[in-house]
Amino acid sequence: MCGIVGYTGFQDAYEIVINGLRRLEYRGYDSAGIVLENRNNSFEVEKTKGKVDDLVNISNQLKGTAQMGMGHTRWATHGVPSDRNSHPHLSNNNKIAIIHNGIIENYDTIKKMLTEKGFTFKSETDTEVLVNLIQYFMDINADIDFPTAVRYALNEVYGAYAITVMHEDYPGVLVVGRLGSPLAIGIGEKEYFIASDASPFVEFTKEAIYLEEGHMATISLEGGVDIRTINENSKIEPEIQKLKLSLEQIEKGGYEHFMLKEIFEQPKSIHDTMRGRLLVDEGVIKMAGIWDHVEKFKNANRIIIIACGTSWHAGLIGEYLIEEYARIPVEVEYASEFRYRNPIITDKDVVIAISQSGETADTMAALKLAKEKGAFIYGICNVVDSSIARITDAGSYTHAGPEIGVASTKAFTAQLTILTLIAFKLGKHNGNLGNADFMSLIAELDAIPKKIEDVLSSTHELVQNIAKDFVGVQNFLYLGRGYNYPAALEGALKLKEISYIHAEGYPAAEMKHGPIALIDENMPIVIIAPKKGHYDKIVSNVQEIKARKGKVIAVVNRGDQQVSEMADYVIEIPETSECFSPIVASVPLQLLAYYIAVYRGANVDQPRNLAKSVTVE
Ligand code: F6R
Repeated sequence: MCGIVGYTGFQDAYEIVINGLRRLEYRGYDSAGIVLENRNNSFEVEKTKGKVDDLVNISNQLKGTAQMGMGHTRWATHGVPSDRNSHPHLSNNNKIAIIHNGIIENYDTIKKMLTEKGFTFKSETDTEVLVNLIQYFMDINADIDFPTAVRYALNEVYGAYAITVMHEDYPGVLVVGRLGSPLAIGIGEKEYFIASDASPFVEFTKEAIYLEEGHMATISLEGGVDIRTINENSKIEPEIQKLKLSLEQIEKGGYEHFMLKEIFEQPKSIHDTMRGRLLVDEGVIKMAGIWDHVEKFKNANRIIIIACGTSWHAGLIGEYLIEEYARIPVEVEYASEFRYRNPIITDKDVVIAISQSGETADTMAALKLAKEKGAFIYGICNVVDSSIARITDAGSYTHAGPEIGVASTKAFTAQLTILTLIAFKLGKHNGNLGNADFMSLIAELDAIPKKIEDVLSSTHELVQNIAKDFVGVQNFLYLGRGYNYPAALEGALKLKEISYIHAEGYPAAEMKHGPIALIDENMPIVIIAPKKGHYDKIVSNVQEIKARKGKVIAVVNRGDQQVSEMADYVIEIPETSECFSPIVASVPLQLLAYYIAVYRGANVDQPRNLAKSVTVE
């Protein structure tokens, strides 16, 4: 999604904005732009379709010219990626500049109104409409100041936005507003930073304000940070938070890509997710979010898990876990479908939203709907203080650390870890999971980080070599059963999103109801076949594939014979109880997708058309 960076202070604004935009590149974008307020208090704007490097090529002359400015990376919604549609956008009188993340849904009506008043538009964007609406309010009302005009304009629009606005006649002043899309304000010594997340300013300050929904702020060296509600202009006391984010966490640390770094971080991220929660020696799982509301879970008619993409795959595995161990009925829904299909929800339902970013627009809207209908809403998010984390009644953070690669890896396995803890905790509490089983399962869970370490070291080179043989293929199938059916879906999603090879995941038994028609000697099929988990059935599926000459890449347990003898490629992982196998099996599948994409020369960390946090529906 679009990235926003703003600065007012004493340093070179150009350097801060450009470096900040680089930090936000992971969010996904197709064009970039910058506006600086030069020493004569007038604006210098450069913008272009393409990458931040392309922007630097055309804007180098701005280095050292300003101490205030803002920049943007755009992920196209209204209007194709082009120089014209890139942000910043200027108002008709060229005095107001805006950058925007999100969508103004009623932009068309406002555009018609402004056109009738004589305004003209250079781009196809909703953003240019908003900046002209701000000008319009200043034009028709000589008494109001710039922040008030921004507030008037924001009260006229609906949709989702995070904006930063500058006015030539208000030197040193940044006005920001937020509804639906995140925005952080970094507080330094005699300087302020604005950004979509804290990564652009983490080396300058550890103090930040996360702007709340429906709030705006006027920021200047003289006036500090003045926060108001957008609808009523009520003053809000800023809540300054201490950032835990470190520079090291958002750098590649010697790895070629963030994705590879994050794959290798999984022993630690899973461990961090369990830390303080899983107390094996005491035989206890401590999760305040669950415990404080345990009766809600215990008495729930059902649990509905809502999520998108990889998080939805984690939700499917959560369904297997919670139904098996806590015996509570679970439904898993795509947030985007749930929100629009008038679902039946009551106050006896518990709705769990899973989201790495905590900002996914569909998941957020689905949660709001569930809340309105009286359900108890629970969040599993990675980003602390994200929008979803804030609106839920309770929740558990996955402590995976910042995930920068667009393809989700460590957040997925951390989500599985939380869902496993929830299932075991509820099962133990409601008596469906006996003490002996509970004790042996938690001991096994505790050992999962070690097993992942083992998988990483024993399969890394092997998978790298296997990947070389599949660089030129056009299709892939991924098959698994039980807990590993969602793992197959996730394996296929990883491959398609970063390598652009068409890949589909299927429950292995469904193969004969259609996909088997695709199988010939050119079709690679990844099959997840751990010992515990319908192994005999999988053996038959592999036989069916081999009878049609498909190329089998099998993920099996160490020492496996039957499937290994038939498979063309064998990746061995340590044996686990079935419920843990998706966590362990996912790791070599992440590596496979990664290396195939690398060998194809794809931009692994920023795949085309994709955004890290999808703040538009
Ligand atoms: C896939 C991927 C996406 C996200 C999806 C939901 O690798 O990253 O499919 O999983 O956009 O995002 P969150 O979890 O942030 O709600």
